[in-house]
Amino acid sequence: MLWWFWWLWSSPSVFVTEAGEDDLVAMAEIHEASFPHGWDADTLHKMLHGGGMFGLVARREGGEGDPLGFVLVRSTGEEAEVITVATAPAARGKGVGRALMDEAVRRLQRDRVARLYLEVSERNAAALALYRALGFRKVGERKAYYASHVDGGKAAAGHTSAPPLNAPPSALVMELDLG
Ligand SMILES: CC(C)(COP(=O)(O)OP(=O)(O)OC[C@H]1O[C@@H](n2cnc3c(N)ncnc32)[C@H](O)[C@@H]1OP(=O)(O)O)[C@@H](O)C(=O)NCCC(=O)NCCS
Repeated sequence: MLWWFWWLWSSPSVFVTEAGEDDLVAMAEIHEASFPHGWDADTLHKMLHGGGMFGLVARREGGEGDPLGFVLVRSTGEEAEVITVATAPAARGKGVGRALMDEAVRRLQRDRVARLYLEVSERNAAALALYRALGFRKVGERKAYYASHVDGGKAAAGHTSAPPLNAPPSALVMELDLG
């Protein structure tokens, strides 16, 4: 019997739905666990209701329990931007991020959005693998953009002409053609 629960957990089949008010606390917990400057439920509520925004959450097939991950996207006509995407640490590497991004792309294509952009730390191997697998390509770079070596720490966005050897990582600007 135990092996059955292990199999369910190690190979979860996820499905993706719109993020709702009931998801905000869990989303905040995931964000807090994923970035140095986590957003609380109130902040996420305001973002979710901002112009052009939509949010998606991934759940285990069957819909029971808290979200395993979420993505926030802002669309402005022809272009859209991934504001944030995160998977709960215990659920990473099991296809949750991919399912979220696939559904976001599907919705944007349905709405005839032409291009999707995002920023990612040059040192965020997991996110880069996800974005490259989806077909994103690098179209720009912001030198020494992140204050922290953990992706998402955007506190020190300034740049210098000669960054120190231990300079914060750069942000890569990536684009996905949705056509
Ligand atoms: C980036 C993140 C969202 C990926 O979510 P995930 O649910 O673990 O991703 P998935 O399991 O769907 O994997 C997606 C792809 O990335 C690859 N990948 C995932 N984790 C990886 C890792 N640690 N190293 C290398 N590749 C990795 C997988 O092999 C997979 O590739 P495939 O689709 O070709 O098989 C997750 O690591 C996370 O929440 N990180 C912290 C927050 C963050 O950095 N967000 C991105 C900010 S730009």
